[in-house]
Amino acid sequence: MSLAPGSVIGIIGGGQLGRMSAIAAARLGFAAHIFSPEAEGPASQVAAFNTIADYADQAALRRFATAVDVITFEFENVPTEGLALLASLKPVHPSPEILRVSQDRLLEKRFLNDTGLPTAPWIEVLDETGLAAAFATIGLPAVLKTTRLGYDGKGQAMLRQPADAAIAFATLAPKPLVLEGFVDYAAEISVMVARGADGQIVAFDPAENRHKHHILDLTLAPAPLPPELLAEAGAMARIIADKLGLVGVLGVEMFVTATGGLLVNEIAPRPHNSGHWTLDACPFSQFDMHIRAVAGLPLPLTTRHSDAVMKNLVGPEDLALWPRILGTPGLIAHHYGKKDARPGRKMGHVTRLFPKGGLPGEFGIADALNIE
Ligand SMILES: Nc1ncnc2c1ncn2[C@@H]1O[C@H](COP(=O)(O)OP(=O)(O)O)[C@@H](O)[C@H]1O
Ligand SMILES: [Mg+2]
Repeated sequence: MSLAPGSVIGIIGGGQLGRMSAIAAARLGFAAHIFSPEAEGPASQVAAFNTIADYADQAALRRFATAVDVITFEFENVPTEGLALLASLKPVHPSPEILRVSQDRLLEKRFLNDTGLPTAPWIEVLDETGLAAAFATIGLPAVLKTTRLGYDGKGQAMLRQPADAAIAFATLAPKPLVLEGFVDYAAEISVMVARGADGQIVAFDPAENRHKHHILDLTLAPAPLPPELLAEAGAMARIIADKLGLVGVLGVEMFVTATGGLLVNEIAPRPHNSGHWTLDACPFSQFDMHIRAVAGLPLPLTTRHSDAVMKNLVGPEDLALWPRILGTPGLIAHHYGKKDARPGRKMGHVTRLFPKGGLPGEFGIADALNIE
């Protein structure tokens, strides 16, 4: 089934990913209907229709589903009962089963390993005895994580010595937890992959991600790594999209190890912060791809016409640069319309394009934005 212009795409979640998806939907003549607990959030500001309600409000979910033609997400942690209700009323892409896997680090890692894809070593941790046994096997340092509801490094703790275990175990919730071997990675990369309803799979070029205080700070596209490695990362992302029977776009985060191997860290079945560079460096962005896929339309090209550096604008400090960013020719600025610039909150992002092959070297990356 492919949707005709005028159709309504329901998007669960009201943040910046929903905002940019709604804009992509509008470009194709669709109307976006946002379901979000927050009135006048980033997505609601640019959407044709809004339902403001809690994600657990079954009556509101039912009304929303009745009012739209297809349902997708920019927020993954919708309660399972709500997902089941939505799926009983309208097509939901990606499927609730994919959300179930990606919402839970244990199911996610099991799926990846069963698919033959390598991850950091990991062990499920149910109690403190289990934790001691787990780090006896995995060794230290290691990272202890919640299996659910983690984002931007929240819900995880680094264990450097056995004494760190008790506090970490007590603080992290909900249980169970998962202990992962610490990867002394050479780089973090991500691949945005999309699969259409007909099984067509396309992938954008892998990008390198650099974090600051556990929040994505910079994305470099393409990742400045050997072409064989990038090809392998792309192939792994395609396998994931295929195995999941994905419809929509999905971000695959990977570690590049010191020896040039790839480990999958996590997957997110939605547009992803590390794919924002596609808005400006490609004719069709990750959001265009996502809307096309969920609307049952053919997927366009993932061609990159430029190289790009994307920087997140996080919290009041980065937002204070806004006037200077606007005054700097060549910076492509994106504001998410959030009223309140709390510390650590993603307020917008800015992209600078470079001719293909022209990304600045390591020395120039820090100054790549050259905000005047
Ligand atoms: N096993 C690990 N080894 C080394 N660094 C890690 C490991 N797990 C997570 N990290 C670091 O923490 C960041 C956030 O972890 P991640 O599992 O992606 O959770 P989320 O993005 O949901 O907060 C990663 O991007 C990486 O920089
Ligand atoms: Mg992550």
